Amino acid sequence: MTLLSCNDPAAAERWCALVRARGETLGFVPTMGALHEGHLTLVRRALRENRHACVSVFVNPLQFDDARDFERYPRDLAADARLLAAAGASMLFTGELRQFFPAAQGGAVPCRDPGPDAQGLEGEFRPGHFAGVATIVARLFELVRPTRAYFGAKDYQQCRVVLHLARELGFPQVVVCPTSRDPDGLARSSRNQLLSPAERQRALALSRGLFAAHDAWRAGERDAARLEAVLAAELAREAVQVEYAEVRDPERFALRPSGALPRARALIAARVGRVRLIDNLDLAAEDPA
Ligand code: PAF
Repeated sequence: MTLLSCNDPAAAERWCALVRARGETLGFVPTMGALHEGHLTLVRRALRENRHACVSVFVNPLQFDDARDFERYPRDLAADARLLAAAGASMLFTGELRQFFPAAQGGAVPCRDPGPDAQGLEGEFRPGHFAGVATIVARLFELVRPTRAYFGAKDYQQCRVVLHLARELGFPQVVVCPTSRDPDGLARSSRNQLLSPAERQRALALSRGLFAAHDAWRAGERDAARLEAVLAAELAREAVQVEYAEVRDPERFALRPSGALPRARALIAARVGRVRLIDNLDLAAEDPA
């Protein structure tokens, strides 16, 4: 399939409507570009489960609490288009903020409530971030009206926010796909390309911390504080600036747990030099990879 590429969300909306009118299924992968193997895994899954894969590339200013972080975010639309064409995606679209929220609708950005799971963790360290994510994802869903939408579990809290949004909207089916990792364990992220080789080595502390907590869980450790101590100990071995390293019960995600846990997801955010990275792991999973 030839990749159709457009820089007008309204044109993308029309193409998606045509596809749906033909009764064809549409898998949607929303991205901020600088695509890597993790994104392509989502695209390939979308293509296995739908007739078409549609990908948006938009570095959404609404979800950045730090203007420098927004400026520095990697962008390479030509490379993204080449990767998507090779992967067999049907449509790539991009646009400007004003095109997503055009003057015809008053030009105002209707801010979305990201729901209860936006509290704490990323919500604490990046105020307004999830409102920005929920606002653009709701708009993208309205434009594309996909059969299914695909997100990576690396952004675990974001996945919870999106699942809440999809429940509120009544569509689409949201598919959360496993975190894609480099062979040495580092979670794939567009931000990794901003790391120097030495910083990339230090960044491995995040996945090492998570895998160490997974080992502790398998050895029978269930206490939230002691699992968090395992994360902290591993992170302390490297020069990384930890923002949070916490364990949560996914069934009671908004609460900071104490005592023994029946299930656990460990979540970390840390700065390595100027680059902010996040990662997480289901500690009870059989295969943590
Ligand atoms: O995960 C991302 O890349 C972004 O947060 C998303 C979902 C594309 C919304 O801007």
